[in-house]
Parts: sequence; C-alpha cells; structure tokens
Amino acid sequence: MTTKIISIPEVFDDSILIEAAHAIKQGRLVVFPTETVYGLGANATDPKAASEIYRAKGRPSDNPLIIHIADPRDAEEYTYTNETYYRLAKAFMPGPLTVVLKAKSTVPQETRASLPTVAVRCPSHPVARALIRLSGVPIAAPSANISGSPSATKAEHVIDDMKGRVDYIIDGGDSDIGLESTIIKIEDDGSVTMLRPGKITAEEISGIVGEVKLAAAVTDKLMEGEKVLSPGMKYKHYAPKSPLFLLDGDMDKIVDYLIQRSKTKNIAVICYSDDENIIDQSLPDAKIYVFGNKSDELTQAHLLFDILRLADKENCDEIYAPLPRKHGIGLALYNRMIRAAAYQIIRM
Ligand code: TXA
Ligand code: MG
Repeated sequence: MTTKIISIPEVFDDSILIEAAHAIKQGRLVVFPTETVYGLGANATDPKAASEIYRAKGRPSDNPLIIHIADPRDAEEYTYTNETYYRLAKAFMPGPLTVVLKAKSTVPQETRASLPTVAVRCPSHPVARALIRLSGVPIAAPSANISGSPSATKAEHVIDDMKGRVDYIIDGGDSDIGLESTIIKIEDDGSVTMLRPGKITAEEISGIVGEVKLAAAVTDKLMEGEKVLSPGMKYKHYAPKSPLFLLDGDMDKIVDYLIQRSKTKNIAVICYSDDENIIDQSLPDAKIYVFGNKSDELTQAHLLFDILRLADKENCDEIYAPLPRKHGIGLALYNRMIRAAAYQIIRM
C-alpha cells in the first residue's frame, strides 16, 4: 500500500485535511496527531474499516477501540450518557480524557470488540478536531504503533511503524503530552473507576466526581485468568526489544549496581537530569538518556516513548530506568513503565 504523507504547517486551514477526511469517510486508514499520542484512525461506524485497523496494527481483535468525537455531546449518538459524564466533560473535554459508557447499537461490534460498552474521547488537538468534523463520522483510533511497541509520539515513529500499512499519515509534529489519555469507566450506579492513568490525574477527577476507584491492573500484574476491566491491560505493552529494568533505592547503591552490570553488559541508562553527572562520571561506556528533572513529570511523560524507541536502536543488552512514584502524573508513568519493564523492579 502507498502511504501519502501530509505535513501540517504551523498555520493551517481545513483545505489541507479534505483529502484525508474523504478517505476516512470511504473506509480507509489515516494516522493523525492528537495531544496525547498519534492515532491510527478509521470510520468508527464502518465495521470493515474498524477491522482494517486491527490488521494494520497487528492488534488482537478482542481489544476494543476508542471512538473520537468532535463535540462531547456527540457521545449521545453512541452511548448512554449520564450526569457524571457531563460533569467530567465540562471539566476536561476537549482534552486527554476517555470515558467508557454503555454502548448504543450504533457502534458496530467490530469497533468495541463485542463489549456492551464503548470508550469515547473528544481530543483537543486542532488537527484531530478538524479531521473528525470534516469526515462527518466519529473516528475509531488506537495508538498508531505496531501492537506491543511504544506508542508513537513523533511523525518519525509513525513512519517507522505504519508506512506501507495505512493510506495517509498526517504529520502534525511531536505530541504535546506523550502518554495516552486517562481512561475512566462510569458504572451504571454513577461510580467511577480509573482503567488507565494519564495526564488528567485520579486526584483531579476525584475533585469533580468524588471517589475514584483504581482498577487493580493499573499498578499490579494480573494473575493468570483474572478478570480484566479493560482488555488492553492484559497484553504486553510499550516493550522495547532490549529488556528494561526499573531501579528503586539510594542513588549510591544504584550506581554501584550499574557499574557491576556494565562490566559484562552493554547497558543504557534513563536518568533524571538531577543524576546525570554522577551516572555520566561513573558509567563512561553506558548510553545515557536524560529524562527531565526528577519533579518534572510532564517532561518525563513527553520524552518516555521516544527514549524507549531510541534506546532500542542502540541494541544494548539491558536498559535501566528509575521507578516512578505512584502519585499524580507519576502514576501514568509508573503504569506504562512497569509494563514496558515486564514488571521487573530491582529494589536495593
Ligand atoms: O490517548 C489515547 O487514548 C490514544 C489516542 C490516539 O487517542 N488512543 C489510545 O488507544 O491509546 P489504544 O487503543 O491504544 O488504547 C485504548 C485502551 C485499550 O487498552 C483498550 O483495551 C481500552 O482502551 N478500551 C477501549 N474500549 C474499552 C471498553 N469499552 N472498556 C474497557 N476498556 C476499553
Ligand atoms: Mg495503545
């Protein structure tokens, strides 16, 4: 398949998106930028188009898609909304929040992997919004990476993974946030469960709706056969090809440990800028990636997937990174990084 690449200039108008919007309407695949990560989009109301997404991404067919809408009220067409939904929409939409609600029959089984629920999200990125509006249909889109690898946050990531598999790639530059949206489920009784943490934190959501439960799979490994609230949580995710290990403990002990490892292994180290000097001086042969300041989780989120992809290209034996804290945006980093590390945490 030939993939046409459309580069969006800083100032753009609808005309640059008309061809891609037309392609969406016709059931074809278009990768587009959002404020979180790039999405691999198709007409959410077209069962065949939704199936094509699974094929292009190599995604298991039991892992449902998010429906992207241009206006929070468009959720009426596809879901049974309630007051909690509108309170959250008022606070956080358009933006990086996805809400799972009971689905209406207007959503094909292929889009929602035959679940009785469906996930909806109204992105804030101007290109994503214009594309949905011009297509005249909601756009189903998972992250635009090959299933299992780190999500795509730069046009070059998308080109690496998706060129030749989709009809269009819309290059809108680097993703602002760099981690996927926060996903919450609103139950029939109005209670709220967080299925995937993101930039919008549990604390912020709780400020609007009161108690927010955390699905167990957000922080912990699922046991064999355990029931899962979000199908995506059971798959290996974000994994670089070299094994990643998360480090927890005093910097002195971490440095000693890494010095030992580097005697026999070719290692890469992801570190906070606060620790760059000591790592650099102690490990002259290691490949070092600076991850932003220790307290600057927005920068860490922005850089994470790019660093994982860069580290991968080095073909090192092992990659090491600090274990994030479990509060605020740190919880989203923790959730992505423990999966990327296949739950391998070294405590010292
Ligand atoms: O930021 C984002 O959310 C990006 C951009 C492109 O919008 N999209 C994204 O999609 O991350 P994806 O498919 O990579 O992740 C969506 C997650 C999956 O883990 C899936 O299992 C879960 O959402 N999901 C979708 N529909 C669901 C449902 N009805 N119930 C529970 N989980 C659902
Ligand atoms: Mg994904």
